[in-house]
Amino acid sequence: METTHLQTDAAFTPAERDAVYKCIFNRRDVRGQFLPDPIPNEVLVRILRAAHSAPSVGFMQPWDFIVISDAAVKQKVRDAFQAAHTEAAEMFDDDRQQTYRKLKLEGILEAPVGICVTCDRSRNGPVVIGRTHQPEMDLYSAVCAVQNLWLAARAENIGVGWVSIVRPYDLRNALGIPATIHPIAYLCVGYVSNFFQKPELETAGWLPRTPLGDVLWCDQWHGRAGSEPLLEHLGR
Ligand SMILES: Cc1cc2nc3c(=O)[nH]c(=O)nc-3n(C[C@H](O)[C@H](O)[C@H](O)COP(=O)(O)O)c2cc1C
Repeated sequence: METTHLQTDAAFTPAERDAVYKCIFNRRDVRGQFLPDPIPNEVLVRILRAAHSAPSVGFMQPWDFIVISDAAVKQKVRDAFQAAHTEAAEMFDDDRQQTYRKLKLEGILEAPVGICVTCDRSRNGPVVIGRTHQPEMDLYSAVCAVQNLWLAARAENIGVGWVSIVRPYDLRNALGIPATIHPIAYLCVGYVSNFFQKPELETAGWLPRTPLGDVLWCDQWHGRAGSEPLLEHLGR
């Protein structure tokens, strides 16, 4: 069978390349700076289209996107967060616990929109190209959709905050998600008063950003031989 591969002439100009890096380096997880301004539907659809254009194992496209604007539904998600958050605090040792309790880790009620990204692990049949030996690849594919959404939103000057401190069971209940479907991410989405320059957890002293050179290796796990040319460019 003959196939035709249509080509695009989508070479990036230096300015366009810089815009992509600007978006990547200025993306933040947003919890506290949401504005109530509504997101125009055409903008929301652009962001969702970006998510839906993510790579996926065997082109499985295992995701669904639930857009949440109903205050009562948001409240259920917020209650679910609160229950998990209380449990989570107890898991840290005394010092960390105090800091943990001070952190703002969600903006569920403040964000005008919530988007839940899910993964249907059985979509398109039991055998999927690329999933035969690593079945978790469908979950990773759904996460790729989240990242596309996050970056597209940033380019639209819209903030996104990922809330994972919630029992999947509670999230399913709040959103009517069947037991066979995996909730991947609950995202708080909205325009913001400002984006922070650094991750909030870094600013709060929770963890520093790891230097790239500490996690970069050549040829072998933790291999340093031959790494000098790369490390030189890191300014070490
Ligand atoms: C899988 C995943 C789950 C996360 N869950 C939460 C969460 O429940 N609450 C929260 O405040 N931030 C959450 N975050 C955001 C991270 O804390 C944040 O990405 C990290 O601190 C780096 O900050 P930045 O995204 O602003 O660069 C999550 C991020 C990821 C990738």
